[in-house]
Amino acid sequence: MVPLGIYLDNAATSFPKPEPVCQGVAEYLKTACASLSRGSHRGAVQVEEMFLETRSLLGELFNVKPEHINRIVFASGATEALNTAVQGLLKPGSHVITSGIEHNALWRPLKMLEREGIVELSVIPCPEGHALDPEELANALRDNTALVAVTHASNVTGAIQPIPQIGQICREAGIPLLVDGAQTGGVYPIDVDGWNISLLAFTGHKGLMGPQGTGGLYIGPELELKPLKYGGTGSASLPHEMPAWLPDRFEAGTPNGPGIAGLRAAVKFIIAEGLEQIRRHELELAAMLQQGLAEIPGVTVYGPADPAAKVPIVSCNVGGVDSEEVAYVLDEVYDIQVRAGLHCAPQAHRALGTLDQGAVRFSIGYFNTKEQIDAVLEVVEVIARG
Ligand SMILES: Cc1ncc(COP(=O)(O)O)c(C=O)c1O
Repeated sequence: MVPLGIYLDNAATSFPKPEPVCQGVAEYLKTACASLSRGSHRGAVQVEEMFLETRSLLGELFNVKPEHINRIVFASGATEALNTAVQGLLKPGSHVITSGIEHNALWRPLKMLEREGIVELSVIPCPEGHALDPEELANALRDNTALVAVTHASNVTGAIQPIPQIGQICREAGIPLLVDGAQTGGVYPIDVDGWNISLLAFTGHKGLMGPQGTGGLYIGPELELKPLKYGGTGSASLPHEMPAWLPDRFEAGTPNGPGIAGLRAAVKFIIAEGLEQIRRHELELAAMLQQGLAEIPGVTVYGPADPAAKVPIVSCNVGGVDSEEVAYVLDEVYDIQVRAGLHCAPQAHRALGTLDQGAVRFSIGYFNTKEQIDAVLEVVEVIARG
């Protein structure tokens, strides 16, 4: 692998990872000698404790009640978590409300259920990639609405959805709220208990700064879901059915021990640094980048103008140039890594009117610096001049 120059693709996966994360994975591989719940020897107990500690740390970060820590079940990422939630909860005849800026990780399972005639879908528009209007969402509720499922922040424009207000609407209507926290975990506060979130999908490798292949789903105690995967759990092997208790019910198969060891170190790192400090730093750089880009003639910046209304994602285009071409030049000529195209979120690009051109997405991480943002702005100015 070659070392990268200026990495601004943290919304895809954060990089670099904090040193303790790398050490956590390496140490696990060197010392752990057991699979979770697959034995009673000391090694197995240590792994069990490590998993439990990681659930507790995540619970602390997301404000999950301590008695519900075991309701945080691990998955390979937000995609698996969202599929577990949607496919496990929805029954024929259900109505679901979602938004017009969803990532395919939520959009595709919902559209699959719609295609199969299992659910009816209402999509609340997010004009120009901004947040939805909670009143419009409230007006879309029906007698058979079984789920409100929305992303916490768009991975294209960064727009943060008003989850506290949406949670309040769901609380009053008695409808579960599924939040896709892939872009906010470790980047922006998430309050499961305070915001009435029934299902929270998260991924470990983006803002949480952990390894790829990690993530999970919080499942509220009021919900009964069918598991997505069936198999051995190491506990209660005799019955033909999956155990009724969590997390075992949703964790069939040998889990990603090295990944969870890295995730534990990552969440510890975030808690020690402080989410406010991380947010402050990333917001400062995002504001600098957004303002600088908006001042370059020919550059169009998308989404909310106020960086505080967004996670640290700034998407733009340079005139009519194909976004992939701009990203290619940034990488090849200037050693700046970004993501172009449709970002697995065609609905968001439909809202922006960029389905053909895509967009150049700069996504900031905790280890980016002001000097890097200055350098990027100089380069974009050169590219925009042609
Ligand atoms: C908003 C959003 N949801 C879900 C996902 C899927 O996450 P993962 O690839 O970890 O499954 C992503 C990743 O890009 C995302 O940005």
